[in-house]
Amino acid sequence: MQSRSVCFVVGSLVLLAFGVQMGFGIKCWECRSDSDPKCADPFDNSTLSITDCRQLDEKSHLPGVKATMCRKIRQKVHGEWRYFRSCAFMGEPGIEGDERFCLMRSGTYNIFMEYCTCNSKDGCNAGSYRSPTTALILSALMVFLSVVAVFRRV
Ligand SMILES: *[C@@H]1O[C@H](CO)[C@@H](O)[C@H](O)[C@H]1NC(C)=O
Repeated sequence: MQSRSVCFVVGSLVLLAFGVQMGFGIKCWECRSDSDPKCADPFDNSTLSITDCRQLDEKSHLPGVKATMCRKIRQKVHGEWRYFRSCAFMGEPGIEGDERFCLMRSGTYNIFMEYCTCNSKDGCNAGSYRSPTTALILSALMVFLSVVAVFRRV
């Protein structure tokens, strides 16, 4: 039973790694609202050109990994919203595959972050997203905790 779940997790990770490597190209918006106010919501693409993520250099800490997703980050620092849009190298789109939902993180010092990741179409990080319900957060947490539990038993 235990070794079967270990196999499952390892298998999933291998599949995920292959999926990331394959990298069928995507185009995403790349901007940040602190240098370009049009990057905020509602998004205004009129002065931006879309970035082909395949053209980006690999990240030095992620050798061999291509950007295959788009991301929008909404960050509230000391009451002020900032928006970052870019190609994404890591993570998975949406929450449980539903791109309408974003991952939320709140930190210390009055910082709130929201990560929206998508790969459904070119420029998918333009739009606005819904926030996940408590049930979705809880189920994502449960999946995460069960994976951690499996690994700690190895
Ligand atoms: C820019 O936004 C407009 C209006 O939402 C949209 O019709 C157009 O397709 C967008 N341009 C690109 C390159 O996605």
